[in-house]
Amino acid sequence: MYSKALPLLSVALCATGALSHTPNSYSFDPLKHLAGVAPPFDPQDPDLDPTPPQGCNVTRAAYLVRHAAIYANDFDYESYIEGFVGKLSNTTVNWTTVPVLSFLATWQNPITDAEMEMLTRAGKLEATKLGVDVAQRYQSLRTPEKIWTSTAERTVKSAKSFSAGIADDDSDIQIVEVSEGEEEGANSLTPYEGCPAYSSSAGSKQATSFLDIYTKPAIARFNTAAPAFNFTANDIYAISLLCGYETVIRGSSPFCSLDVLSPNEWLGFEYTNDIMYHYNTGFGSPVSGAIGFPWVNATFNSLMASQNNMSNATTDQDLYISFTHRELPPTVLVALDLFNNTAFSGANNINGTMPTDTINHRRAWKSSNILSFLTNIAIEKMSCDSFGFDAGTYYRVLVNDAPQSLNGCSNGPGESCKDSDMTTWLNTRAQVVGEYDATCMPDYSNSTNVLGIYEY
Ligand SMILES: *[C@@H]1O[C@H](CO)[C@@H](O)[C@H](O)[C@H]1NC(C)=O
Ligand SMILES: *[C@@H]1O[C@H](CO)[C@@H](O)[C@H](O)[C@H]1NC(C)=O
Ligand SMILES: *[C@@H]1O[C@H](CO)[C@@H](O)[C@H](O)[C@H]1NC(C)=O
Ligand SMILES: *[C@@H]1O[C@H](CO)[C@@H](O)[C@H](O)[C@H]1NC(C)=O
Ligand SMILES: *[C@@H]1O[C@H](CO)[C@@H](O)[C@H](O)[C@H]1NC(C)=O
Ligand SMILES: *[C@@H]1O[C@H](CO)[C@@H](O)[C@H](O)[C@H]1NC(C)=O
Ligand SMILES: *[C@@H]1O[C@H](CO)[C@@H](O)[C@H](O)[C@H]1NC(C)=O
Ligand SMILES: *[C@@H]1O[C@H](CO)[C@@H](O)[C@H](O)[C@H]1NC(C)=O
Ligand SMILES: *[C@@H]1O[C@H](CO)[C@@H](O)[C@H](O)[C@H]1NC(C)=O
Ligand SMILES: *[C@@H]1O[C@H](CO)[C@@H](O)[C@H](O)[C@H]1NC(C)=O
Repeated sequence: MYSKALPLLSVALCATGALSHTPNSYSFDPLKHLAGVAPPFDPQDPDLDPTPPQGCNVTRAAYLVRHAAIYANDFDYESYIEGFVGKLSNTTVNWTTVPVLSFLATWQNPITDAEMEMLTRAGKLEATKLGVDVAQRYQSLRTPEKIWTSTAERTVKSAKSFSAGIADDDSDIQIVEVSEGEEEGANSLTPYEGCPAYSSSAGSKQATSFLDIYTKPAIARFNTAAPAFNFTANDIYAISLLCGYETVIRGSSPFCSLDVLSPNEWLGFEYTNDIMYHYNTGFGSPVSGAIGFPWVNATFNSLMASQNNMSNATTDQDLYISFTHRELPPTVLVALDLFNNTAFSGANNINGTMPTDTINHRRAWKSSNILSFLTNIAIEKMSCDSFGFDAGTYYRVLVNDAPQSLNGCSNGPGESCKDSDMTTWLNTRAQVVGEYDATCMPDYSNSTNVLGIYEY
């Protein structure tokens, strides 16, 4: 029996590609390792099931969403891309004679000054699709009356595109624009702007150390092929940025080829960014958690507020959706103690987990997974009557559709947190991350620790 059945079984396995070692068919997708210029994707980090746990209904939810894909961020453009495309326009190199880079003979820069920082067509489509996805996921919840966004055009347009997807008629939704001013304290969707203790350049020194290391082989390879171009570390970094931006502008990019940069080099680009974000808005910055906590606090207050109109504390919506920039979501993750490289270690040598001379492949902090275009953090309030658990209200956090287990509050259905424990856990987090004002030390007199935009 076995001798006959076995060959059939292996044929079946080969045909489906399932469950087998595949030493000769390694695959790698650079688009999933592009940090802040990664197109939206679901990293399944971790692999937990996003459908509501058995016996649970979602009764309210809140989403914090980074704007959708843009033509280019002006910092990325001015620091890396502009120098590289400028050299390209001036070079004497005849690219048709350079095999891997021959496309440069005809390649045109897709980014123009006029479109810088604007949403791409694909960005608008992805934002609208997210609106459809949210509407489909929460069919029994009411369409929001208001959606909040910071004032930059790319965030406002993301909110509008999202509205077109979630609403039957998007004129039913009011887009509330929240000032990005530098004197708003915690009362904005850009609280880092009003925080003098936050530095927008934090992390660049540490990231540059690793940039110089990972780009070395690529520089040597390209300068052997085209000596007259004088490739630099910033040019190699620009190639990865252009892969991301050109993909969200034109749909694909020749720079994404694994013949241009190897998988290990794409991982080097990603890790360089992870180091930067670690010190900039992550666990390596002493102010991140205090910047992210007010959104967490305001959001839980809105979700927890009674749903019977007894209080006027909230706008009484089922869905609270807010659009912001790339800096806020990672600070919220720090406030929630998610993607903490030292979780469960009992120790807190957090900077030691991000060495600047070699990649820590086992890190939890991967910027591609947490701040891609349209990255989103969702908090769901659930009413549960689940086998093996007390009936009641539970909360769950999802990051890009992957449910997250809150460290110290995850023993409800689907690793959710029971409402009575949630308040205690949040108070503990407030203690750990510190208050906004005390941490940020604003140099204006009317700062606040509270994000009040969701209140009437
Ligand atoms: C091209 O080269 C010229 C002469 O060296 C220089 O002045 C100019 O700035 C360069 N242009 C760009 C876009 O780099
Ligand atoms: C570039 O090299 C190709 C192949 O050798 C040659 O046909 C072409 O004329 C060269 N172009 C220029 C602008 O020199
Ligand atoms: C503080 O005052 C400035 C200037 O009047 C104003 O723009 C800002 O919104 C105020 N901040 C808060 C938190 O009320
Ligand atoms: C190559 O570029 C580096 C960095 O900009 C510069 O210091 C160096 O002088 C350049 N070398 C040549 C041969 O142009
Ligand atoms: C990590 O490094 C940053 C920047 O040097 C420093 O401000 C922070 O205190 C360090 N964090 C810890 C936990 O040592
Ligand atoms: C959380 O929000 C409530 C309600 O606005 C406020 O009273 C409280 O001080 C906030 N907690 C922190 C730690 O900021
Ligand atoms: C709260 O009040 C509004 C307006 O009066 C009403 O439309 C809504 O259905 C009420 N919500 C609940 C949960 O009763
Ligand atoms: C809620 O707001 C309405 C309209 O402003 C007001 O009439 C009502 O008294 C308020 N209810 C409570 C419980 O504060
Ligand atoms: C990260 O985890 C360590 C170890 O459990 C903990 O000491 C530290 O407070 C956590 N960081 C934050 C910002 O919560
Ligand atoms: C969930 O919703 C279903 C369908 O409306 C309902 O039958 C069930 O009782 C609800 N369960 C809970 C725990 O609210």
